[in-house]
Amino acid sequence: MKILVAGGAGFIGSHTVVELIGAGHEPVIMDNLYNASREVLSRIRTITGREVPFYQTDIRDREGMEAVFQAEKPEAVIHFAGLKAVGESVRRPWEYYDNNITGTLTLVDVMRKNGCKNIIFSSSATVYGDPAFVPITEDCPKGQCTNPYGWTKSMLEQVLGDIQAADPEWNVILLRYFNPIGAHASGLMGESPNGIPNNLMPYVTQVAVGKRDRLHVFGDNYDTPDGTGVRDYIHVVDLAKGHVCALKKLAPGSGLSIYNLGTGHGYSVLDIVKNFEEATGVSVPYVIDPRREGDIATCYCSAEKAERELGWKAQFGIREMCEDSWRWQKNNPDGYESAT
Ligand code: NAD
Ligand code: UD1
Repeated sequence: MKILVAGGAGFIGSHTVVELIGAGHEPVIMDNLYNASREVLSRIRTITGREVPFYQTDIRDREGMEAVFQAEKPEAVIHFAGLKAVGESVRRPWEYYDNNITGTLTLVDVMRKNGCKNIIFSSSATVYGDPAFVPITEDCPKGQCTNPYGWTKSMLEQVLGDIQAADPEWNVILLRYFNPIGAHASGLMGESPNGIPNNLMPYVTQVAVGKRDRLHVFGDNYDTPDGTGVRDYIHVVDLAKGHVCALKKLAPGSGLSIYNLGTGHGYSVLDIVKNFEEATGVSVPYVIDPRREGDIATCYCSAEKAERELGWKAQFGIREMCEDSWRWQKNNPDGYESAT
């Protein structure tokens, strides 16, 4: 199937493109490169042996997207394109609502005008807020987000659901990702954050490679087994494969579906440090700092619905997540910038 991958040069998008090719699909990448490097295209070529068509286009650029749809005539869109830095979204809410919401509205309008009404959308566990229960199932009520980034995800779920309800020709899958980490096993693709990483694993690998002195653990007085925050970390390649499985579900009449993509296991911050050290043999010094504003104690999912309905289950464990994150960081200390 020909699939337009919006935001396909980013962390999750690039891994998904590789898995799509492996499954016999024809991905086309569209990305404005705001948070990505052209270098990823050559890495995808090295891994797959395939040249993937690439358009440097912004999803808010109606004419640019129209040209892409006319040229490529995709049957479905996997929509990763968005801004995702939580702290930045608090400082620059207009930019987040414009990029993520205006962008998605424009994308969806161009899709329907071109007769393409199949979309898989990157949502997040953040829509559950402080979850009403764990393990979180898809029918857990959505909660209060603590930042504009989270609200864009929650609002866009509503928008896409309403559009599907009004026009049953649309097939919409909302994938709620838990905490993606890891990297391609080749060490050629991974996460390449700008500046100081916000998320745990990129910070851990930057400490391990000597770019930062020590990890700051945000709080050790949560109601969790060791007092540090517990999350459902998932290998990015497993997450990418989840999209390939979801595509099979995008059949005519499938309507609106929602799936959690996680492993169903919770690991604390200190579990991650310990597992990383064991998997790599590299020590990660840390200090305990105060809690980070907006953080919750515990977040992990039940991934049973995805297994039952999509035939998808995460294969990689925490050891592979740590090994692959480390191989990527070690081989590319400055991310894709290392190659330029
Ligand atoms: P990423 O920043 O690596 O990838 C997003 C890509 O979209 C980037 O390549 C960026 O250049 C592109 N982009 C942004 N705005 C665009 C626009 N207006 N037009 C065209 N391209 C644009 O992020 P990621 O980690 O790969 O995340 C992909 C998606 O999954 C995002 O929507 C993110 O919010 C969502 N998500 C990510 C996580 C996570 O932890 N990484 C968790 C839950 C949900
Ligand atoms: C964060 C975002 C969430 C987003 C997700 C993936 C917040 C409040 N939430 O989730 O919206 O979908 O990233 O991009 O930012 N930690 C440390 N030290 C660090 C970094 C993190 O101790 O330097 C701890 C955190 O307190 C948390 C755990 O590690 O307990 C995971 O943090 P992180 O990787 O930022 O993910 P989330 O907080 O789950």
